Amino acid sequence: MESVGDTPYEIRQATLTDIPELIRMQTALQSDMDGIRDNLLRPNRTNVANLREYYRSRIQDEQTLLLIALPIKSSRAVAMGTGKIWLHADFLPPRSGELIDLWVDPEHRRKNMARRILGRLLRFFRAQEVDFLIVSYVEGNRLGETLWKRLRFEPVLITAVADRKDVERTLDIPIHPVAPSAYRSVLARQSKNHMIPAASL
Ligand SMILES: CC(C)(COP(=O)(O)OP(=O)(O)OC[C@H]1O[C@@H](n2cnc3c(N)ncnc32)[C@H](O)[C@@H]1OP(=O)(O)O)[C@@H](O)C(=O)NCCC(=O)NCCS
Repeated sequence: MESVGDTPYEIRQATLTDIPELIRMQTALQSDMDGIRDNLLRPNRTNVANLREYYRSRIQDEQTLLLIALPIKSSRAVAMGTGKIWLHADFLPPRSGELIDLWVDPEHRRKNMARRILGRLLRFFRAQEVDFLIVSYVEGNRLGETLWKRLRFEPVLITAVADRKDVERTLDIPIHPVAPSAYRSVLARQSKNHMIPAASL
C-alpha cells in the first residue's frame, strides 16, 4: 500500500478483471489528446473487443508491467501506467524500456500519483537492467510535456503527419480521380486475361 498525498492508494499490477477500467482510462486519455490535436492516428474506439485483447496480451506479457492505482476500499481504478521492455538485438542498446499510457483521473492529480507509478516502473526496468527509456507524447500536451521534461526526457525524434492531398498540392502534382480498389482489381484481372469484355465490368 502506498500513501499519495493524504489519501492512501494501492498501486498494483493490473489483472484481467481490471480490463473495463483500463479501457475507461484509455478512452479518457485518447479523448483528452483528441482535444489537443485533431489529426492524430487514433484507435478505433468502436472496436472494444480489440482493446480488450490488447490489454489481455499486455497483462499476460512478461516483458510488460501494467500498473493501476486505486483508493483503498475501492475497486475503481483512478490511474494507470505501463512499462514495456523491447528486445531488439540489432540495435544499440539491445534493450529499451517504453513508458506507455500514463493517466491519472483529473480529481486525483497533483498528488504525486504519476511519480509513484513511474517509480514502480523504473524499479521494473532497473531489475531487468534496462537503462534506455522511451516515451511518446502528443506535441502540445502541456501536462505531458512538463512532466517528461521535468524527469529529464529529451525529444530526439519528431513524428509529423500530413494529408496526402495537401502534400500533392504543394508539390503541384495534378490530382486525378482514382478508380475504387474493387474496380482496379477487375481491371488487373482483365489485363492479365485479356478476355473480359468491357461490358461485363
Ligand atoms: C501528466 C499526468 C499523468 C500527471 O499526473 P499527476 O499524478 O498529476 O502528476 P504528479 O503529481 O506525480 O506530478 C509529477 C510532475 O508532473 C508535472 N505536472 C503534473 N501536473 C502538472 C500541472 N498541472 N502543471 C504543471 N506541471 C504538472 C510536474 O512536473 C510534476 O512534478 P513537480 O510537482 O515536482 O513539479 C496527469 O496530469 C495526466 O493524466 N494527464 C493527462 C494524460 C497525460 O498527459 N499523460 C502523460 C502523457 S503520455
